Amino acid sequence: MTSATPGVIAVPGASDALSARLAEGLEAVERVIVERTRHEDDFITEANLHLAQAGGKRFRPMLTMLVAELGEGINDDVVAAAAGVELTHLASLYHDDVMDEAEMRRGAPSANAKYDNSTAILVGDLLFGSASDIIADLGPAAVKIQAQTFIRLCAGQIRDDRPCPEGTDAREYYRSVLADKTGVLVATAARYGAMFGGCSPEVVAMATEYGERLGVAFQLADDLIDIASQSGETGKTPGTDLREGKRTLPVLNALASQDPADAELQRLLVSDLREDADLARALELLRPHQAMADARQETLAVGQRAKEVLAPLPDSDAKSALLALAEGVVHRAG
Ligand code: IPE
Ligand code: IPE
Ligand code: MG
Ligand code: MG
Ligand code: MG
Repeated sequence: MTSATPGVIAVPGASDALSARLAEGLEAVERVIVERTRHEDDFITEANLHLAQAGGKRFRPMLTMLVAELGEGINDDVVAAAAGVELTHLASLYHDDVMDEAEMRRGAPSANAKYDNSTAILVGDLLFGSASDIIADLGPAAVKIQAQTFIRLCAGQIRDDRPCPEGTDAREYYRSVLADKTGVLVATAARYGAMFGGCSPEVVAMATEYGERLGVAFQLADDLIDIASQSGETGKTPGTDLREGKRTLPVLNALASQDPADAELQRLLVSDLREDADLARALELLRPHQAMADARQETLAVGQRAKEVLAPLPDSDAKSALLALAEGVVHRAG
């Protein structure tokens, strides 16, 4: 399977031996994904694999395998869990691009742009079915976690698409939406790795909490990237959140400013930004703004809080790599 844009996430803290085991594990994950999404109808096989073959960082399966290395290491169940998590993620991307009216994903046309909305939604549903099929082989405890994860993920996506309820602090609302739409699946990726890697219940709990915080940091960074990145860098279209009227943290920070100099930016941020020139101007004003710097600061702080969860673990290759992964997530540019 090709993995073009963007490349598989780097794990800079991993030793050569650990990197080799992760690379081998990832190849096995790719094989499971291809085998379990093959369909007798060629169109369905193609649509199932459209995004998987376009690229992607494989951040979640990598995390599952890395956490398993805190215990007895990668085995067939860890690989299956990692594939199930990546397929759940993929399903959510097919649906997310419909919601967000996104035209580009992983450097390729999104499924809704390439086919249509109905096909993108149904293929997302099918992939979620394939993920559940794989997870079911791992037993009822894993299925229960998968089901509860998907409920939270979907609740987060529903709330992401709705205005902040009256009387609720907008930034608090945003943080809770992030935990649901993104934190929970990253937490599950880590939790499965610990469960199927033979870790103790204490380490399973620690990995789950680390994953939840890491997932929130990951989404905070993603929201910064939507504003800071240049076209083509990430395989997605910059400014998609602004155009969709998404109140991400930098936007909320800018809207909260009392400085009269921010009037133009605030006017743009509450407008529909359909004109390319308006979107470009909003991005130009937001990129160097203190609102971005403050959001970046919060991202770093959440990454730090993820690392702190691992403090009680004894030193190991896997622990160093997980600490480095949290650093990489908050500093990433794509
Ligand atoms: C995109 O996830 C959706 C978010 C939760 C931000 P990724 O950034 O992991 O997307 P891929 O898998 O690398 O394409
Ligand atoms: C997506 O958040 C979260 C999920 C897919 C659950 P975004 O809408 O920010 O993701 P991208 O930026 O399109 O990848
Ligand atoms: Mg999106
Ligand atoms: Mg979205
Ligand atoms: Mg985004």
